[in-house]
Amino acid sequence: MERENWTSRLGFILAASGSAIGLGNIWRFPFITGTNGGAIFILIYLAAILFIGYPILVSEMSLGRITAKNPIGAFKKMAPDTAWPLVGALGVLSGFVILSYYSVVAGWGMSYIFKSLSFTAESNFPAIFLGHISSFTEPIIWHGIFMFLTIAVIGAGVVNGIQKLVKVLMPILFVIIFLLIIRSVTLEGAAAGLSFYLKPDFSAIDFQTFADAISQAFFTLSLGMGAMITYGSYLSKKESISESAGYVLIFDTAVALLAGFAIFPAVFAFGLDPASGPGLTFITLPAVFTQMPFGTFFSFIFFLLLTIAALTSSISMLEVVVAFLVDEYEWKRKKASYLMGFLIFLIGIPPLLGYSSFSNFSFLGMDVLDTYDWFSNSIFLPTGGILTSIFVGHIWGSRNAVKEANKNSRFKIGNIYSILLKYIVPTAVLFIMLFNIYQTI
Ligand code: TRP
Repeated sequence: MERENWTSRLGFILAASGSAIGLGNIWRFPFITGTNGGAIFILIYLAAILFIGYPILVSEMSLGRITAKNPIGAFKKMAPDTAWPLVGALGVLSGFVILSYYSVVAGWGMSYIFKSLSFTAESNFPAIFLGHISSFTEPIIWHGIFMFLTIAVIGAGVVNGIQKLVKVLMPILFVIIFLLIIRSVTLEGAAAGLSFYLKPDFSAIDFQTFADAISQAFFTLSLGMGAMITYGSYLSKKESISESAGYVLIFDTAVALLAGFAIFPAVFAFGLDPASGPGLTFITLPAVFTQMPFGTFFSFIFFLLLTIAALTSSISMLEVVVAFLVDEYEWKRKKASYLMGFLIFLIGIPPLLGYSSFSNFSFLGMDVLDTYDWFSNSIFLPTGGILTSIFVGHIWGSRNAVKEANKNSRFKIGNIYSILLKYIVPTAVLFIMLFNIYQTI
């Protein structure tokens, strides 16, 4: 069967941006900016995106397009009879692990679309959130619904599923963000939030700040597990990779920055804590919404936004697994989607139970969900990224990658890209990975 292609460059850019823009932008970016000194963190983060994120993004897309294969197949085709396909295998494994807990968190977000309709200023938000995640029936139903949606899209195909969905959802996502920002910055007292967000606090920088910025750049661009190899494999030879990757970078960064503009002014306007960490989304924000005019409406669209962003990311993770089975074992797309999606649903049950039945579990002090997240973000993704950059830079050859990425491009990449990819990226990411492991252990 002929491999499907995105039917337009926009289709590809929206799909790849959809993968990149997710919980990482709307939930994670604001809270780590909040705890890392605001504007100064943003500057370091922008450098990480540009000098580390962009080279890996271009490499993954180029490797995918030239081989027209899933991550394992791509390495196999470029380096047959070597151990390199194991890098692809690590990617497929990451797909199972990340999607399983990502769907659990997305499920919490989905339930809040409806739950938040009945919140009042008197509600006890920490207790509501804890009550929700430590129960069973509701979280598992939402986790199931979210996985089902992901499966249905991937089962429908690259053009009829993924591309169709992102063409509808990505514009909605942008509209919602702008509505939220307008509401937030027009609240009385919003200026304090803006100044917190935009005023650099130099005393907050240390090595950890750099480590957080690089990890965030990785996660937010969906790098290191072959998602961009897979999406690149459906890109026509007529389209430019150096330019498309640039657009993905810009959209992803824009949404992360805009999420901060939507969140911080509102948090400050009601005198709440911007550095409340992971609970920012599920505890601080619901409190903010109950106090603002038309809060119920804005709460509804905020959690809708979170769900949309999560769905356009989750489909790219399942696609990695499905493309592998379709390419290498000639499975039917529908069968692969439903069976693997169900398996991932099951793998998500331990992290889902981590706040109730499995609350005694602890790995280096982390609960089940954080353990899944730690292995993926601190080990699997950086390892995948380091090995991919070494492979593309030194084995396939950065010159060949540049040629592939520059096809039909007006914006051409060259020596700087090669030097970054061959030397800077693997060294910097290795350094950060070891630092992060050392910090946790
Ligand atoms: N980029 C996504 C986000 O910001 C999450 C993500 C991390 C991801 N790794 C991925 C998505 C791999 C798809 C594939 O939320």
